[in-house]
Amino acid sequence: QTTSPAVGIDDIAFATGANRIDLAELAGRFGVEPAKYYVGLGQSEMSVPAADEDIVTMAAAAAAPIIERHGSDRLRTVLFATESGIDQSKSAGVYVHRLLGLPQAVRVVELKQACYSATAALQFAAALVARNPEETVLVIASDVARYELHSNAEPTQGAGAVAMLVAADPAILELETATGVYTQDVMDFWRPNHSATAIVDGKLSISAYQDAIEGAWADYRSRGGADFSEVDHFCYHQPFTKMAIKAHRHLAKSLGSERTQEELDAQIEPTTGYNRRIGNSYTASVYLALLALLDGDDDLTGRRIAFLSYGSGAVAECFSGIVRPGYRSALRSDANRAQLDARTVVDDARYLQLLEDAASADVHDSDRPRETSAPFRFAGVVGDRRQYEPTS
Ligand code: HMG
Repeated sequence: QTTSPAVGIDDIAFATGANRIDLAELAGRFGVEPAKYYVGLGQSEMSVPAADEDIVTMAAAAAAPIIERHGSDRLRTVLFATESGIDQSKSAGVYVHRLLGLPQAVRVVELKQACYSATAALQFAAALVARNPEETVLVIASDVARYELHSNAEPTQGAGAVAMLVAADPAILELETATGVYTQDVMDFWRPNHSATAIVDGKLSISAYQDAIEGAWADYRSRGGADFSEVDHFCYHQPFTKMAIKAHRHLAKSLGSERTQEELDAQIEPTTGYNRRIGNSYTASVYLALLALLDGDDDLTGRRIAFLSYGSGAVAECFSGIVRPGYRSALRSDANRAQLDARTVVDDARYLQLLEDAASADVHDSDRPRETSAPFRFAGVVGDRRQYEPTS
């Protein structure tokens, strides 16, 4: 069931950090086989931001081509989802609003619930557009995933931003109305105010993720959502891509699906290409799964995609959408792939230095070195005020 008029994703774009590290570098330091990460976690690389990049610069870079294409005349709302916020009060979206030259008659707010909040943003955006189909909403998900160095979680870091324009009569994906939600207070992953890195109970987080997905799916079905067999593709939150495969097998088993393991894995594989090379981008991850699927070779016109969004702590949501005819003309597939290849390869020593530089940014007034070739940069902190500027 869909709304009338159709509401959904009219445009989607992403940005990531300027650097990448091959996980074989980390395997060397940890003294494990690279296969543990390549195969066991399903991850080959992690994005690492330059010293003058952060969630704001990535978010603005992701959203810029969307504003360039559609203008901002109909834009009324910017919803910025993140769990690696740079301020306890001010929305990171307000900096993006200035960098993109958006009109003042636009509301901007930040949303937080671990990796889940971009999905809440998308649902809120759809409701705003359904209320007034003349308006559009810009949803931005941007995160830098950081765990304690030398911990088992370190190889599951990453960085990235996805921006989506939500509109009536969307060019890419029409959202169906049924959604399923699930909330349970669980301490699987959190980041206290005093800590720059997340605290995680890795094994608990995996079972909490699977329980929450199962609960959200059951709620989705009970509210008129499609049957498992009626879904062509599944986009899961991907803290590491193997997690999506595990969760999909788990969900299928709990539902008594007759699909073979090979068939189930084949449903997930086309959604993993970007996350495998970017790492965990928290709020952006499930939408990077969508982007990888859309940018793939298959013609998805008319196909149903189910989304399984999870945020530790924990909230999950399941919803679905139908791919619109002509969707490919709204994509930037070549540029997306080129963006991943264009990142600078760094070794372990340089990566550790970049992490140290990023950590110092919040405590010292500083002039950030000019490193990024992205359209916007983080220039430093002056008198506790973060400075952002275009690079050209
Ligand atoms: P670990 O303990 O180092 O890894 O940390 P492991 O020993 O469990 O091994 C991982 C996999 O590699 C296993 O596969 C091994 O068998 C395999 P499995 O049995 O589970 O299928 N393996 C190998 N495979 C091939 N060749 C080899 C080899 N060696 C081992 N030589 C862990 C793994 C994920 C726990 C850790 O990285 C971690 O804590 N990460 C962070 C937490 C996380 O990502 N949790 C996911 C669910 S929670 C979530 O998604 C939310 C989150 O995104 C945050 C949010 O919502 O805000 C995290």
